[in-house]
Amino acid sequence: MIYLDSAATSLYKPECVQTAMLEAVRSMASPGRGAHQAAMRAADCCYLCRERLAELFHAPSPENVVFTCNATHGLNIAIRSVARPGSRVLISGYEHNSVTRPLHALGAKPVVIDTPLFAPDAFLREAERKMPSVDAVVCSHVSNVFGYILPVERLAALCRRYGKPFVLDASQSAGVLDIDVQALDAQFVAMPGHKGLLGPQGTGVLLCKNDAIPLLYGGSGSESLLPTMPDFLPDRLEAGTHNMPGIAGLSAAVQYVLERGCASIRAVECERMRQLADALERCGGLRLFRCTDERLQSAVLSVIPESGSCEALADALDKRGVAVRTGLHCAPLAHRTAGTLQSGTVRFSFSPFNTRLQMTRAAELCKSALHDFR
Ligand code: ALA
Repeated sequence: MIYLDSAATSLYKPECVQTAMLEAVRSMASPGRGAHQAAMRAADCCYLCRERLAELFHAPSPENVVFTCNATHGLNIAIRSVARPGSRVLISGYEHNSVTRPLHALGAKPVVIDTPLFAPDAFLREAERKMPSVDAVVCSHVSNVFGYILPVERLAALCRRYGKPFVLDASQSAGVLDIDVQALDAQFVAMPGHKGLLGPQGTGVLLCKNDAIPLLYGGSGSESLLPTMPDFLPDRLEAGTHNMPGIAGLSAAVQYVLERGCASIRAVECERMRQLADALERCGGLRLFRCTDERLQSAVLSVIPESGSCEALADALDKRGVAVRTGLHCAPLAHRTAGTLQSGTVRFSFSPFNTRLQMTRAAELCKSALHDFR
């Protein structure tokens, strides 16, 4: 199989991830639950992982790094901390359901910046126009459908100027783009462990500035006499037993990302995307959502066949051993904004472990799949 669905989950992981997970299963109990060696090994592993994440994202301290189950979990905490029922929340037109559904469930009103793809200046003009009337801002760093890199540094600067809390959804950028949580002055940055960070599924990270309202209440291994959650991070947001195999795997993966470097990972992914996109353009029969300015697109490429449906093309690719994702990608708002809600798209997304040979082969297989529709 040629796996081109890394925007959903990184399937190709560094070898060290599975080694660390196995070691955790064999040797670790739960951090803060007991002072015996197995509990202390788990506590040390958690702390090391927090330190590595704090280094990667320039967090003020490891305590500002909270473990979650995934990005959605972190976004639910963040959204419930910055918004109330009736709050007006500014969002981009490229948000995932992990932002829009928590806002809907809370009864907050999304105020959408519905500007075109790959047009950051128009986005910022619209953001500034709407900013005075909102209570908070939640924005994706990168669209999971189109790879559009939103101008979040300049959006964060607007939030600072207007005094609005800012939440960043780094689901598609963590591990690939530089994120400096202190420079952004973001209230929260949420991300999964299993995409660009190359860790296991069931892991996630929420970088928290200070105040946060817990989503779950329960044991934290600290302040056990209190009827409430402790008021300090990360314990305040981490009720219940930790996913130690997941955290151990994530820690190894983050160390790998730190050593290889986000810029070099992004360069490889973009080179693979460029190779495939060039080949697909040459073969014809597809509309590609490709930005001419490569600074504005991460390694996520959506396409629509000129004849036949996206689902049929994805099926034909699957039969030939190419794994892609089709449909709405849990992001109907992004498709509405880009004008692809009716058709959806076929999405190719890339990993630092994809090879040039895989791209050559994927292009040939795509050409053969398209031939079926002609
Ligand atoms: N949000 C993930 C994706 O884009 C699951 O596929």
